[in-house]
Amino acid sequence: MKPLEKNSKIYVAGHRGLVGSSIVRALQARGFQNLLLKTSQEVDLRRQVEVENLLNNEKPEYIIIAAARVGGIVANRDYPSEFLYDNLMISANIIHAAAQLSSVKKLLFLGSSCIFPKFAAQPIVEESLLTGALESTNEAYALSKIAGLKLTEYYNRQYNKPFISAMPSNLYGPGDNFNLELSHVIPALVRRFHEAKIAGAAELKVWGTGTPFREFLYAEDLAEGCLFLLENYNEAAFINLGSGEEISIRELAVLISKVVGFQGKIAFDPSKPDGTPRKMMDNSKVLKMGWKAKVPLAEGIMRTYEWFLKNEIRG
Ligand SMILES: NC(=O)c1ccc[n+]([C@@H]2O[C@H](COP(=O)([O-])OP(=O)(O)OC[C@H]3O[C@@H](n4cnc5c(N)ncnc54)[C@H](OP(=O)(O)O)[C@@H]3O)[C@@H](O)[C@H]2O)c1
Repeated sequence: MKPLEKNSKIYVAGHRGLVGSSIVRALQARGFQNLLLKTSQEVDLRRQVEVENLLNNEKPEYIIIAAARVGGIVANRDYPSEFLYDNLMISANIIHAAAQLSSVKKLLFLGSSCIFPKFAAQPIVEESLLTGALESTNEAYALSKIAGLKLTEYYNRQYNKPFISAMPSNLYGPGDNFNLELSHVIPALVRRFHEAKIAGAAELKVWGTGTPFREFLYAEDLAEGCLFLLENYNEAAFINLGSGEEISIRELAVLISKVVGFQGKIAFDPSKPDGTPRKMMDNSKVLKMGWKAKVPLAEGIMRTYEWFLKNEIRG
């Protein structure tokens, strides 16, 4: 184990996002002050020269790549060009520029469980990446993320760079994106149930059939997991990071409606896409290393709803 030194310069790319903001809070809670944080207006990570200038001038010691174009199932399906281009550029620019710097003691890249093959055997082991066809609705995003994971792995193996990757399951929590065109299932349902409650609606239609199963990890647990890996993980191959808790979309909708206090009926709209039927990761590798998620789903959703009520939402 190699603890991060308190005065280390840590660059959290994408610090205003769900993942980035959770990582910043976790670092600040542990007393890390020397954080390098830039918005996309200050540094557009799709532009190589901007990334090179930033890293060459600032020489960070740790880099966490939590910047990406992220979206829900419909955004992914409708904007594949942007999802592929933006994420390829962001990953390639940061990873390549970091590889030219001697200051970097560790770089952490984040994949996502939706980039495993659509029909991967469950629970999904790390080795199943690239063993089958991708889910078509998020193929572009998956291709860009696979390229990022592989670039990290290749620099580690070929040049012995301290570059690692984690594969988180579906995430949710304070700071999530509640914009209905871009959001994932939990923030979308929190917002829709809340608005239906305020409107006194008799029924709310949930997208899809309600039958797919998903695993969710609270963003603050993910942040702790990322710091754990920065200190304890050195392998070139990525590692799964999930909660081990699985729930159907139907049960999830019921749970969120209860947290929000929606009294109406819950219906399903099978004309909307379901995505992958089941997505449960095998977390045994990280469990064996001594890390596990702490926040149960019901509590995490409660905290997310409290945050939603108190904060201005994006979009
Ligand atoms: N959310 C999930 O369920 C989930 C699951 C597994 C893995 N992940 C991974 O976690 C990472 C972060 O996801 P997230 O959910 O935190 O996303 P998010 O909330 O949408 O935040 C993404 C961040 O990326 C930054 N960004 C986007 N384009 C940029 C650009 N061109 N230049 C600079 N910054 C840019 C944005 O910065 P500004 O705010 O400054 O514009 C934003 O803060 C991604 O790699 C994603 O694949 C997410």
